[in-house]
Amino acid sequence: MEAYIQKAVDIGLKEICFLDHLIISEPANRLSMTPGEVSFYFQAIQLLKHKYRSVVDIKAGLEVDFNPEHADLIVDIVSRYSFDVIGSSLHFLDGMNVVSHGSKWSQGENDTDYIYGLYLEKLDNMLDYNYYDIICHFDLLKKFGRRPLKTFDKEIDEILSKTKKKNLSLELNTSGYNHPVNEAYPSREIIEKCFEKGIFFTLGSDAHKPESVGQHYDKALPLLISAGYSHMVTFEKRCPSMIPIASHHLKAKKV
Ligand SMILES: [Fe+2]
Repeated sequence: MEAYIQKAVDIGLKEICFLDHLIISEPANRLSMTPGEVSFYFQAIQLLKHKYRSVVDIKAGLEVDFNPEHADLIVDIVSRYSFDVIGSSLHFLDGMNVVSHGSKWSQGENDTDYIYGLYLEKLDNMLDYNYYDIICHFDLLKKFGRRPLKTFDKEIDEILSKTKKKNLSLELNTSGYNHPVNEAYPSREIIEKCFEKGIFFTLGSDAHKPESVGQHYDKALPLLISAGYSHMVTFEKRCPSMIPIASHHLKAKKV
C-alpha cells in the first residue's frame, strides 16, 4: 500500500483513496478480501493516513461487488467502519466473471445483446439498494471490445435518471485504456448524458499495481472538461464535496 501512496506523491496527487474489492462469493474470489479481512484493510489505511498526514491525503474506500443474495451482510460490513466512500459495481453475470480474460465473454461467446440486457437489468436492480455512494466502471462490459447490436439508450437513460435521483456519483475509471476497448469507463456518450443530468464523477485508476496509480489521467481529465465539467466530486466519511478540475491536475499527470 505504501508503494501506491509513493506513486501518488511522485505524480503530484493531493489525495489517494484506496478502493479495494470486496466480492462476497462462494468459493472466495482470489482478487478480493474476505469479509473477515476488511478490518485489517481499514486499520492499515488508518495507520498510513496518520503516517503520511503531512504529505498526502489518504482515504479509505471499498468497492463492493453487487450481490443481492448478500445485501444484508454488505450493509452490515459497510456500516461497521467509517469509510470515506463506498463504490458498487458488477463483475458477475450468470456466474460468469465478465472482467476475466478467461471468461466465455472475453472469448466472444454468449449472445452480446442478451448479456448487455442482463447487465443493465442488474445495474437497475443495484439502484434499489442504498449502501453506496458511487457506481464504479459503469459500462465495464465493453472491456473486450464487445458492443451490443441493439441500442440500450432507453435503459441507460433510465438508470442514469435513477442515479441522479439517488444523488449518486459515477467513477470515471481509466483502466479501460489498457484493454481492447481502449477508452475510459464510461464512454464519452455516457459522460455527456451524465453532465446533462447533473451527475458528478470521481476519478479512478483501477490500479492493480503501484505503477498504475494516475494512469491515463492525461486523457480522462480533458474528457471530463470537454463534456462540460469544471468540478469532480470527492468524499470524506461518505459526504461528497466538489473540487475544481484545475490546470495543475492536467500538468501533474504528465510526470
Ligand atoms: Fe472493479
